[in-house]
Amino acid sequence: MPGIPTPATVMRPLPPRRGHPPLRRKPVFRVSGAIIAVASGKGGVGKSTTSVNLALALKANGLRVGILDADIYGPSMPRLLKISGRPQQIEGRMIRPMENYGIKVMSMGFLVDEEVAMIWRGPMIQSALLQMLREVAWGDLDVLVVDMPPGTGDAQLTMAQQVPLAGAVIVSTPQDLALIDARKGLAMFRKVEVPVLGIVENMSYFIAPDTGARHDIFGHGGARKEAERIGVPFLGEVPLTMGIRETSDAGTPVVASEPDSEIARVYRDIARKVWEQVSAHQSDKARTMPNIVFE
Ligand SMILES: Nc1ncnc2c1ncn2[C@@H]1O[C@H](COP(=O)(O)OP(=O)(O)OP(=O)(O)O)[C@@H](O)[C@H]1O
Ligand SMILES: [Mg+2]
Repeated sequence: MPGIPTPATVMRPLPPRRGHPPLRRKPVFRVSGAIIAVASGKGGVGKSTTSVNLALALKANGLRVGILDADIYGPSMPRLLKISGRPQQIEGRMIRPMENYGIKVMSMGFLVDEEVAMIWRGPMIQSALLQMLREVAWGDLDVLVVDMPPGTGDAQLTMAQQVPLAGAVIVSTPQDLALIDARKGLAMFRKVEVPVLGIVENMSYFIAPDTGARHDIFGHGGARKEAERIGVPFLGEVPLTMGIRETSDAGTPVVASEPDSEIARVYRDIARKVWEQVSAHQSDKARTMPNIVFE
């Protein structure tokens, strides 16, 4: 179909690298604003749920926001934001991001079938991520939230080494096992001098919908203690609720669909703290706030 990028045009490999790759290549980004990675060591702890609601909360707090779904093998954003169809190609090689709830979104889920992406390996993952940054007409953003895949693989390395991240938000559930994995993710960002903006404790506690009683299913407060131990901000506790799960599945994230709810308030509070951290690091180090339109 004309005007629609085929996988072949979208997935051009990067030119071969000469010698050892520098820690940070000179990027040709058309992304203005702060790029924030939402990461965890472990899968399934709620990175995508946090990314989408954090992005909506940043928007509710008055910022211009985009989301980059960096999970190539298992993209979540098409479903979480109820967006289908393919992005339009505009002038040159640029493609227009998709949009819903006032947020610009790019995801491999819009471009290729999941089965196709499944066979991709390192260089293709890197190429796909960098192209989603460089060849998407993001326009003027204050912040781009990047929903990371689980673990510390190719996507993490690409983002940490080649993208001028303003910082990383680490998501963990309260139990020890998740925290051990969160530590790995944390260590990786610190190694490449990406500021850790803080830790979110997701599925922190459960309020029974019938009795209103609170249950600490996975224990509680582990992430707060961990944050204190390693000296990074604790950003907040998100409870385990039916509402969060149901609205996520329905593609109507809770911050957008129930803006007056207690949960939406929790996310807006997290967003405020994240932005405070970004601003603090910005004044610390100019390089952590990319405003890059290099040619
Ligand atoms: N606070 C919460 N309350 C209820 N359900 C939640 C909460 N956070 C996440 N979930 C649900 O848990 C499941 C996993 O969440 P999500 O997809 O956000 O995790 P993830 O860390 O992005 O997973 P992956 O590692 O596979 O990318 C989803 O079904 C989501 O709706
Ligand atoms: Mg996810």
